[in-house]
Amino acid sequence: HSKKTPFPDDFLWGASTSAYQTEGAWNEDGKGPSIIDTYMHRAEGVADYKVASDHYHHYAEDVALFAELGLKAYRFSIAWSRIIPDGDGAVNPEGVAFYHRLIDALHERGIEPVVTMYHFDLPAALDDKGGWSDRNTVEAFVRYARVLFDEFGDKVRYWITINEQNMMILHGKAIGTTGRSGVASEDVIYQQNHNMFVAQAKVMTLCHDILPEAKIGPAPNIVSVYPASCAPEDVIAADDWDAVRNLMYLDIAVKGIYHPLAWTYLKEKGWAPTFEDGDAEALAAAHPDFIAFNYYSTQTVGASRGDASDLQHRGADQQIVRGEVGLYRAVKNEHLPTNAFGWEIDPIGMRTTMRRLWDRYHLPLIITENGLGAFDEVVDGKIHDDYRIDYLRRHIEQIQMALGDGVDIFGYCPWSAIDLISTHQGAAKRYGFIYINRDEQDLRDLARIKKDSFHWYHGVIGSNGTDL
Ligand code: BG6
Repeated sequence: HSKKTPFPDDFLWGASTSAYQTEGAWNEDGKGPSIIDTYMHRAEGVADYKVASDHYHHYAEDVALFAELGLKAYRFSIAWSRIIPDGDGAVNPEGVAFYHRLIDALHERGIEPVVTMYHFDLPAALDDKGGWSDRNTVEAFVRYARVLFDEFGDKVRYWITINEQNMMILHGKAIGTTGRSGVASEDVIYQQNHNMFVAQAKVMTLCHDILPEAKIGPAPNIVSVYPASCAPEDVIAADDWDAVRNLMYLDIAVKGIYHPLAWTYLKEKGWAPTFEDGDAEALAAAHPDFIAFNYYSTQTVGASRGDASDLQHRGADQQIVRGEVGLYRAVKNEHLPTNAFGWEIDPIGMRTTMRRLWDRYHLPLIITENGLGAFDEVVDGKIHDDYRIDYLRRHIEQIQMALGDGVDIFGYCPWSAIDLISTHQGAAKRYGFIYINRDEQDLRDLARIKKDSFHWYHGVIGSNGTDL
């Protein structure tokens, strides 16, 4: 059925960014380096993150534009190494002051801050000591969280623990979980995964202890999976994929346990992590208030053939590998169109994802990323990004239908508020409602230009989703 239900009056119409992709000022005002600055993979000729969108210096102008856009919420991340330059040592007052300025500016405009505590940018000093393999990083994250809660707890209602932990584990080489060498064995990676789960659990509990009014949740990348056919072998492969890529990350956050299929998978592979004393209790004690999830497209899988034909490479540099020999075969979904970067576009899949999440966890949902990366062009000072409008419109319609299905969804924060440096494909891959005038290497004047999608989204928010 396709019954559309009106959006609730307090629906959080938002937009998203992350610190390293927008802020720039990578070594200013006491900020310590993160792994993004020291070694995160970059393809030849692609922009680095040193200046990014220079949001650190343009934040006031950006927030004024967000207000003009009509945003009710702005989801951004705090750079851990701006707050604590070496990850576990002294607090940097200038870093703290920056986020006070940003959050105050949002409140002055009536925009709700939705704060991600950790979006890929582990402090480099912690990485040098072993990163997430070192249990000290768990305690360092809890201590960092306490600093955030003490500093910003009276100004921030919505907290997000870790962005896309499942992608960090799957694509460690691109996002830094493998360490500087870019190589780590899976047993090491899944121990890091476990340590992150424990850190997240402790932080959720701490949040509830010291900020009883606040709400906190994880933000994995969650997408529905389709079997390549109705052959039972394909269906069960899709189930396996769901367990190890989606459900492992949410069952542990919500129920405090590893999903049984995911645990069996880890055991069989010899990758099951070691629990330290107290881990099981910490996991069981933690409860998120909502599930945030990032959604770009669905995944289609078939039964493994047991050889390299299970794999499918994606991305300009072919670095992202999908498929896992022996577990599932990545399949192109012939029913779905793709964007300029080969990513499948599937608005209905977002409704399926919302239904499945609601069904399994019965926690309120917020979409913290969804959007279209494209090569935008400036023509006579304007950006006619009708392709982006079309993408977003079709996804928003699916939220209306999911509301009609009875799903509790309280916010939508497309990626991204402003153009930023993409995680894998540089500055030319743009997602924003607001164009930033720079290219891969030439910083030009970093001027902010409203795209057609800016004017369109303004109308959507102003009509509370009726004027699509
Ligand atoms: C998500 C990340 O994985 O996808 C973002 O949370 C990222 O940081 C986004 O930018 C889109 O991916 P990409 O590679 O196109 O930037």
